[in-house]
Order: sequence, then C-alpha cells, then structure tokens
Amino acid sequence: METQPLHDDMEQVLFSTEQIQERITALGVQIRQDYAGKEPHLVTILKGSIPFIADLMRAVDVPMTLDFLGVSSYAGTQSSGEVRLTKDLDDDIEGRHVLVVEDIIDTGLTLSYVLRNLRQRMPASVKVVTFLDKPSGRGTQIEADYVGFTIPGGFVVGYGLDWNQRYRNLPYVGILKREVYAGPF
Ligand code: IMP
Repeated sequence: METQPLHDDMEQVLFSTEQIQERITALGVQIRQDYAGKEPHLVTILKGSIPFIADLMRAVDVPMTLDFLGVSSYAGTQSSGEVRLTKDLDDDIEGRHVLVVEDIIDTGLTLSYVLRNLRQRMPASVKVVTFLDKPSGRGTQIEADYVGFTIPGGFVVGYGLDWNQRYRNLPYVGILKREVYAGPF
C-alpha cells in the first residue's frame, strides 16, 4: 500500500479511533444521566472540537440544542497568550443549561476567556466537557466537569486538533514527529 504523508508525520498514535469511540460512549452516558430533565445547550468551541461534538452529541441521548463559538489563541505549537473571538454565538443563552465543548485544555487561558464571556450572558448553568486535558500546562485554576482523556505534556494532533491548521482530519490522536514542527536542525 502507498504510504500517506499525513500518517508518516506521526511519531506515535496516542489514542486510536476505537479507544476514542469507547471513551465518548462512556462520557455520553454520564452526561445523559447528569442532564436528565434538563435540555443542555452545547456550545462548541471551533474549530478543534468538530469531530468530538459530532460523536459526543450522538452519544448523549437527550433533547439538546447546539451552537458554535469561534476563538483563536494559538500560532504553531505555542499559545499566543491572547484570546480572540472569531465567531459569536447565534443564539441567546440566558436561562439555558450551557455545556461548553472543548478539544483540549492546556494553559486554561482559552477556557477562562470563554467562561468569563458566557457567564456575563446569564445562563442557568455552565459546565465544561473537554476531549483532552493537559493539566501540566495549566497557568490558571480551571478544571473541566467531564474529561475524555488526560495526557501528560507534548503537542498532539488529530481528531480535530491541528498544527498550523493541518492534521485535523486524522481519525486518531497522535504525537507529531519533532522534525515536522522544529525543522531538520
Ligand atoms: P489553552 O488556552 O492553552 O488551554 O489552549 C487551548 C487551545 O489551544 C485548544 O483549544 C487548542 O486549540 C490549542 N491546543 C493546546 N494544546 C494543543 C495540542 O497539544 N495540540 C493542538 N492544539 C492544542
């Protein structure tokens, strides 16, 4: 079989497609139980959370609504330290049970910004589900209510996560070869 450059750039597969699906099914059960009798409003953070929300929403078997918030803070493998809103919500969240859907929490800067912004809009409740959690990178005291996988450090790509907008389409989470982002020297 012809080798694919996309996969050749991976040092290691961290979580396979099967492992991801299994974990999301379990998260779905937990969220469904916690939101029994409530209708969660899932606020998905673009763009990295797209594969996660697509799978998660089908694993949470309760009536729900969906919206998207665009934020940007990264350049390459480094957080710029500055969070920008690139797309606002379509709908009002006042009185709604908001569940923020994140791809990964590293420093926590993006999530702090998002939570501050959303709480000003007077939702009934706000919780957070993140696909990945990297607590070693944390600069702020912020935790998600639901976590897919906790990872140590390092930069990961795939299943929505990018490096310079690439690799989002990988069906698994992988560690990028160092020479891909650090260059040959
Ligand atoms: P934080 O603001 O440092 O918590 O970073 C959150 C955002 O940074 C995520 O939503 C991702 O877009 C990006 N990010 C952080 N770590 C990684 C990584 O290992 N791979 C890809 N993107 C990452």
